[in-house]
Amino acid sequence: MRHLLSIDDLEQDEVDGLIESAKQWKARKSDVALLSGKIVALLFYEPSTRTELSFSSAAQRLGAGVIGFADPSMSSVAKGESLLDTIQVVQTYSDCIVLRHPVEGSAAQASTVAHVPVINGGDGGNEHPTQTLFDLMTIEEHHRRLTGLRVGLFGDPRWARTAHSFSKALAGRGNELVCIGPEQLQLSSELAADIEARGSRIERVEAVESVIGSLDVLYVTRPQRERWHDVYGAEQPTIEPLTVSVLQQARDDLIVLHPLPRNDELPSECDKDPRAAYFRQVANGVPMRMAILDKFLAAR
Ligand code: NCD
Repeated sequence: MRHLLSIDDLEQDEVDGLIESAKQWKARKSDVALLSGKIVALLFYEPSTRTELSFSSAAQRLGAGVIGFADPSMSSVAKGESLLDTIQVVQTYSDCIVLRHPVEGSAAQASTVAHVPVINGGDGGNEHPTQTLFDLMTIEEHHRRLTGLRVGLFGDPRWARTAHSFSKALAGRGNELVCIGPEQLQLSSELAADIEARGSRIERVEAVESVIGSLDVLYVTRPQRERWHDVYGAEQPTIEPLTVSVLQQARDDLIVLHPLPRNDELPSECDKDPRAAYFRQVANGVPMRMAILDKFLAAR
């Protein structure tokens, strides 16, 4: 049984294959015969707009039915049902489970009892591999390569699961990473060591203006305050928002990505800059999730 729990569950050539497949789905739009008769379960224990709706859209464009919940208080979770019991039940109703959960490692835990593929739609502050796949797709469409890039991680790389899966995927492909922002929000030392062990160099800077002119990609994330818990006490870190004038110091071919939702770190005035690619990025969510369902479900 093949699950998608971490971006590391995919070989590099499989990532490249999913990007190619997603580009084809983007052009083709739908094929309702492909997953006709299959059921995709969407179990969302944490708020979501994009991941839930785009998986639902992707499943329906491929002809699958969709069941699930986006509000666990309306399910038996409210009666104290454990995640593993819920998974064991829902797998009998479905051919694939997409899980979003606030606890790190919950998708991996779910996979230990599931007889259908489990796809991690975000597990706490750990990983969000399906987001990474279309982040990479958006870069590949723009730069025509996923190697030899200088990529800035700006916002909250420490706690943003999107930044974790993304930096792992870029590591080992000959890319340089630059962590931008306050010390407390830099990648954890464990993840930084893991990334460097894969062969990618990591630089650390405080101010985005000091590096913006040298970047190919700027990957922005919102402050993940819900994951800060009590770590920072009175010393709450702050992110100096990106500005239009800083963006104007960037190279013409820089792209700015953001998994969304955004807070103040990326003001809407930046949207008019041609380097702002986040709405193109979000539009790649459905075709990439079609490619994922095609790979993990169609052959079963
Ligand atoms: C992200 C997430 O849930 O991690 N959202 C998404 O799926 N696009 C980003 C975030 O919440 O900051």
